[in-house]
Amino acid sequence: MNVPVKPTPLTPPDFTAIREAIARVPRVKLIERPTPITEAPNLAKALGGGPRVFIKRDDLTSIGLGGNKLRNLEFRLARSMAENPDTVIVGLDLQSNSARQTTAACNKLGLRTILVLEGNRPNIVQGNLLMDYLLGAEVHFAPSRGEQRRMLDDLADKVRAEGGRPHILNDNPMFDVASAIAYLETTLEVIEQLAAEGVSPTVFYMSSSGKGQAGIVLAQHLTGVKFAMHGVTATDEFHVPSRTAAIANETAQALGLDLTISEDEIVNFADFVGPGYGKPSDAGNEAVRLFARTEGVILDPIYTGKAAAGLVAHMREGRFGPDDVVVFVHTGGVPANFTWNELWLDDRRP
Ligand SMILES: Cc1ncc(COP(=O)(O)O)c(C=O)c1O
Repeated sequence: MNVPVKPTPLTPPDFTAIREAIARVPRVKLIERPTPITEAPNLAKALGGGPRVFIKRDDLTSIGLGGNKLRNLEFRLARSMAENPDTVIVGLDLQSNSARQTTAACNKLGLRTILVLEGNRPNIVQGNLLMDYLLGAEVHFAPSRGEQRRMLDDLADKVRAEGGRPHILNDNPMFDVASAIAYLETTLEVIEQLAAEGVSPTVFYMSSSGKGQAGIVLAQHLTGVKFAMHGVTATDEFHVPSRTAAIANETAQALGLDLTISEDEIVNFADFVGPGYGKPSDAGNEAVRLFARTEGVILDPIYTGKAAAGLVAHMREGRFGPDDVVVFVHTGGVPANFTWNELWLDDRRP
């Protein structure tokens, strides 16, 4: 009989000072922490063995079907609440994960949500948009970014005229810093969770356009734990390393830390975007299938699948050895699978 071997826990570093700095930032409570972390031995084996692989389940952030933005919203909406609004108005993309999570968060805080989504009203309502409706958001469609801005202002005027107190979330200056603080904290969670398993992370993979990654980069400097941070971007619309360094520096300042991050130290892979932002890629789809079929973990074809494609490619290249401990941060986005249902229909078994 195989007796499971109990891991010898490591003593994690003391993060009191970092947590005190974070605790000085106003915050509302939206989610339960820590989110789970699970080992993915079947995935590791399918990729040729070598390192241990763990998945940090930030798709399981408590409400609205989860995702990374709920961590961000704890700080961002605290800033909004200082203005005592009763209605949050926000302009985002048509199939935005952020819109879904924002609506769920506002519900929890007793706020009404008005979404102004860029795009045309689709014939078939699926994915995040369907969840926006279920969560009770008032949804408007804007044909362009310029028109979206005009609509945000007009809707705020309308709410005011009706005696309400609108807050346009796009004007909240916290967006970037909120994500960075959130993912600095996530990194502490991961280090402590892995210490209980007797290991320490050596490399993180995460879908990143810079915000969350900035927090993990700060953790590289602040925790005293040596690990690499491999962001994988889902968009080629801007230069992620310079943006990440700028956000990390802005966040360090907000936390009162004497720290300067240079763009040269940011590792973010831009070669897994595929056909473009918001469009599934073959490598990403393969990675989504692999996670689902080895571990039962559902990713998405727009963000996490592309990040996983980076991890899969690098593990197949043999970049990591048996002493490595890889952490894949699942940032959510699962409802996109329903928008892109035709990707998986071909997988039906006869
Ligand atoms: C599922 C998912 N992963 C990753 C990201 C990128 O996160 P960040 O903006 O913190 O770089 C997003 C952003 O929208 C997302 O929806």
